[in-house]
Amino acid sequence: MMGTIRSAVSFAVILLLAGATYAQNYRTFYLQNKCNYTIWPAIFTSEVSKVKPNAPTGWEATAGSLWKFQVPNNWTSGRIWGRRDCDFNSNSSGDGTDSCSTGSCIGGLECTATNGTGIPPATLAEWTLNTEDGLDYYDVSLVDGYNMPMSILTNKGCDSSDCTNDLGLTCPDDLKKGDDGCLSACAAGMGGGGDDDPVCCTGKYGTPGMCPSSGIPYYDHFKNGCPNSYIYAYDEDSGTALRKCSASLSSDYLLTFCP
Ligand SMILES: *[C@@H]1O[C@H](CO)[C@@H](O)[C@H](O)[C@H]1NC(C)=O
Ligand SMILES: *[C@@H]1O[C@H](CO)[C@@H](O)[C@H](O)[C@H]1NC(C)=O
Ligand SMILES: *[C@@H]1O[C@H](CO)[C@@H](O)[C@H](O)[C@H]1NC(C)=O
Ligand SMILES: *[C@@H]1O[C@H](CO)[C@@H](O)[C@H](O)[C@H]1NC(C)=O
Repeated sequence: MMGTIRSAVSFAVILLLAGATYAQNYRTFYLQNKCNYTIWPAIFTSEVSKVKPNAPTGWEATAGSLWKFQVPNNWTSGRIWGRRDCDFNSNSSGDGTDSCSTGSCIGGLECTATNGTGIPPATLAEWTLNTEDGLDYYDVSLVDGYNMPMSILTNKGCDSSDCTNDLGLTCPDDLKKGDDGCLSACAAGMGGGGDDDPVCCTGKYGTPGMCPSSGIPYYDHFKNGCPNSYIYAYDEDSGTALRKCSASLSSDYLLTFCP
């Protein structure tokens, strides 16, 4: 699959920031917008990570466009998501948090480094590269809800992660947000939103044993719709949520929106 993409890359890729000096120890990430609408991808690097991708924290990606950037081996950790129907010239909040129909962040077009995570609902692609146990971990997450289909492929034969069905079309009424978005039960506040939240798995519910999938409203709805996605805080046990790839393979990654 990557072979096909690579040949497309040769004529379509735009290098975001030329001249960066990751001479080694980096991965190449390809980001492809196969949706038939413009999206505004965004990248957020966790506080714990000392290094960042050499890409902006947000940009416009028209339908069909393909992008390439470098991510240091020790990106621990970060997320990429897509925003829909953005207009950064008119935002009533003034900080960019309502510039898009879904996925907006503090900062507007470029999300802030400190707190510019996407506002739910947003489908997330998450990575922790090169961990102490010698693995890359990655997943397509619906923990913050869903706003568009997505897939992650490696070029080393490791398992893919994806959510390919349009869960916006089948979203339960009490989780709908905007035209296309579908909140997770946690993001919709179904657990009460306090310090001890049995749906968000916080406080005294903050262990897999105390927060099983059977207690998460609509878990089966999301898992059946997107079996290869990470549905709620402790979805590892499903066996299809969190993907891993040996870090020694130094895999590149292809993130496709609307695969
Ligand atoms: C995009 O695809 C959807 C679903 O196939 C279709 O309903 C919509 O009209 C298309 N939009 C554009 C701008 O082509
Ligand atoms: C991350 O990797 C780069 C490149 O190998 C290295 O220069 C840097 O010191 C590393 N940072 C951390 C926090 O490990
Ligand atoms: C929000 O809109 C105002 C103009 O109304 C503009 O000055 C400001 O830069 C915008 N902020 C963001 C984050 O887009
Ligand atoms: C986001 O972070 C900036 C500085 O990093 C801060 O000024 C701002 O108040 C923060 N906004 C929110 C909503 O936390």
